Amino acid sequence: MARTSRFPGFYKVTVSERRALVADAAGCDAEDVERALDGGGLDPDTADKFVENVLGIYGLPYGVTLNVRVNDHDHVVPMVIEEPSVVAAASNAAKMARAGGGFVADADPPIMIAQVQLRDVRDPAEAARRVEAHAAEIVALANGAVGGLVARGGGARGIEARVLADDMIVVHVLVDCQDAMGANLVNSVAELVADRLAAIARGRVGLRILSNLADQRLVRVRCRIPAEALATDEMPGDEVIDGILNASRFAELDPYRAATHNKGIMNGVDAVVIATGNDWRAVEAGAHAYAARDGRYRPLAIWRREGDALVGMLELPMALGTVGGTLRVHPAARLSLRLLATTNAQELACIAAAVGLASNLAAVRALATDGIQRGHMGLHARSVALAAGAAGERVERVAAMIVEARDITLEGARKAIGVLAAESGEAATAVSD
Ligand code: MEV
Repeated sequence: MARTSRFPGFYKVTVSERRALVADAAGCDAEDVERALDGGGLDPDTADKFVENVLGIYGLPYGVTLNVRVNDHDHVVPMVIEEPSVVAAASNAAKMARAGGGFVADADPPIMIAQVQLRDVRDPAEAARRVEAHAAEIVALANGAVGGLVARGGGARGIEARVLADDMIVVHVLVDCQDAMGANLVNSVAELVADRLAAIARGRVGLRILSNLADQRLVRVRCRIPAEALATDEMPGDEVIDGILNASRFAELDPYRAATHNKGIMNGVDAVVIATGNDWRAVEAGAHAYAARDGRYRPLAIWRREGDALVGMLELPMALGTVGGTLRVHPAARLSLRLLATTNAQELACIAAAVGLASNLAAVRALATDGIQRGHMGLHARSVALAAGAAGERVERVAAMIVEARDITLEGARKAIGVLAAESGEAATAVSD
């Protein structure tokens, strides 16, 4: 069966029914999903091997974004995030993108940068030239440090030297990390080649570490959405496009807005990065450094009109792995890759970026139409209804009542529970403070 990411009514069924649906679509047993996710996918003993001074596990919701189609393949995309409405909004936006054929994405080869800082260099320009003249020797030396990677088809690909000051240069060793994120590999390379580089440059070794500005490992994603797919009950699609173009322009003109625009993108990206056991701080650092690469902080995604359609484009560094690190030991991270049906880091980068663009679309469309609070408040109302003691089907009804009454408070929810209880002749069971 061809994989699908379309599950109409998914949000209405129970958690175990959702697990069964997704397991079926991914070709695994519902018990596998059960086992991987129960207890947050991690037990304290395993957690104790991850980090130090462990006391326990800190849980976060694990959801899936639906409707995601990237390069003609459907993906049910796991997302780990605490913020309400991000998963629903990304699913909704992915459905709009689907109306235009889905997302088209491509990722650079997985090249990471090992940085070696060289200090006390007398003639930095000449030292940089000498270092570059020894490129083949340094590449061979680097590859000696990462034999396993070379055997898998990766390894050092070249070097670049830059002058940073009149006594300092930095050498970048470019390393193809294949399907690994690459931090350990790249740090090993940096440490191994540093002494030889210092000798060639006639300087002293400084820092030896990867760069998180992984600008050799970019991912680009694009979508084209017909105007009618963007329309709301109150606003025709064409006007929504105007509103989104205005939002894009605002972010392009103003770094204060660009930061929030990019935060909306990272809502989607980070959630996928976490769910797949990757290092979201690395991806965040790379994204924001890239956003400021020409000296001014800019939006990572922009929106344009093409005929009667809206076109969105996102580009950012994406250092993700599908092997090693957390993935080896975290059952939920392994499950995520199973659900995504990929072992390819470049494909994973394309999917994470597509969810980032979907999240951005959802945000700018909401901002250009109803404002962000309407959707947020709807979801917030559900938490308030739960906190007030609503259960089962009543949660949605109480939430709808307090939104309608514009009284999304515990008191409002208790009143609504009372009204529903009176209607059905029960005693009210609202929770009091
Ligand atoms: C909230 O998590 C993200 C937004 O602020 C993004 C945006 O303003 O584009 C809604």
